[in-house]
Amino acid sequence: MNLNEYIDLINKKLDEFMPEKDFPQDIFKAMKYTVTLPGKRLRPIMCLESCRMFGGNIEDAIPTACAIEMLHAQTLIHDDLPCMDNDDFRRGKPTNHKVFGEANAVLAGDALLSFAPQVILKNSKNLGAEKLVKIMEEYVKYAGAYGVIGGQVADIEAEKNWKNNVFGLNPEELLEFIHTHKTADLFKLPLRTGAIIAGADDESLERITDFAQKLGVAFQISDDILDEISTFEEMGKTIGKDKDADKLTYVMLYGLEESKCKLVCLLNECYDIIDKSEIKSDVLIEIISGIEKRARIK
Ligand code: IPE
Ligand code: IPE
Ligand code: MG
Ligand code: MG
Ligand code: MG
Repeated sequence: MNLNEYIDLINKKLDEFMPEKDFPQDIFKAMKYTVTLPGKRLRPIMCLESCRMFGGNIEDAIPTACAIEMLHAQTLIHDDLPCMDNDDFRRGKPTNHKVFGEANAVLAGDALLSFAPQVILKNSKNLGAEKLVKIMEEYVKYAGAYGVIGGQVADIEAEKNWKNNVFGLNPEELLEFIHTHKTADLFKLPLRTGAIIAGADDESLERITDFAQKLGVAFQISDDILDEISTFEEMGKTIGKDKDADKLTYVMLYGLEESKCKLVCLLNECYDIIDKSEIKSDVLIEIISGIEKRARIK
């Protein structure tokens, strides 16, 4: 499958998995709103592609792939709240709290966090108990305080404060921690679970984790760069806010040009892994080159 075929499949399945008329309707509507807005669907694509790459059947990975997109939507809904990044637009449309109110947006995020694993458990019984337990372990690790939430806490703590050895870390270490957890962990989750569903061995899992770490950090560097050089039309969200909020980003710490160099380096390491290992995927290559194009480094 190519990128667009994956996106069509994921959008169709997300629509099927997300109820909108269940009771109480308000919460299901708020959950479905952000999940079904047009995102790039990178994480579910990576899950399906990882499963295919390691010899699995992508049908088996569809519930997990869609659940990870639901978890991603949860992080976006909460990231946009007034108490976090305070953003009014996401995916080209008003943010969840702007449409449904803050209380419902908090609750929609909470609800997605538990709805997502419910989707996996309900629809993946054919995987067997052993694989399901492994997938759940991955989900709870990367979704929680050891994963994306840990990264988000550090991101918020670093705001306007990153020169002051937050958590005892210097700014370089803190930035690495933030990008690893708020972003790369949600790249590791789909790439690792796709591989687990396919029955990949431990060495392959290690290699795909290393790839996910590099691609995830690269992706967040590109997001930091785009916050400086892109437009609302291209990104579907308000641009220039990182600087205004004094966020700790690559651009803030290293400047635009050095950030681009670091991005080029990391993406070249990703290409290298694809060249030299059993990770073979035109779709992953397309994702990397998409990042290069958007960040104007190619
Ligand atoms: C946004 O992720 C959050 C970041 C990690 C920068 P995406 O840029 O993948 O957002 P969507 O899913 O396409 O909206
Ligand atoms: C978001 O980082 C990471 C998560 C949502 C977990 P950002 O705050 O930079 O993402 P955008 O720019 O709002 O999409
Ligand atoms: Mg944020
Ligand atoms: Mg944000
Ligand atoms: Mg950003």
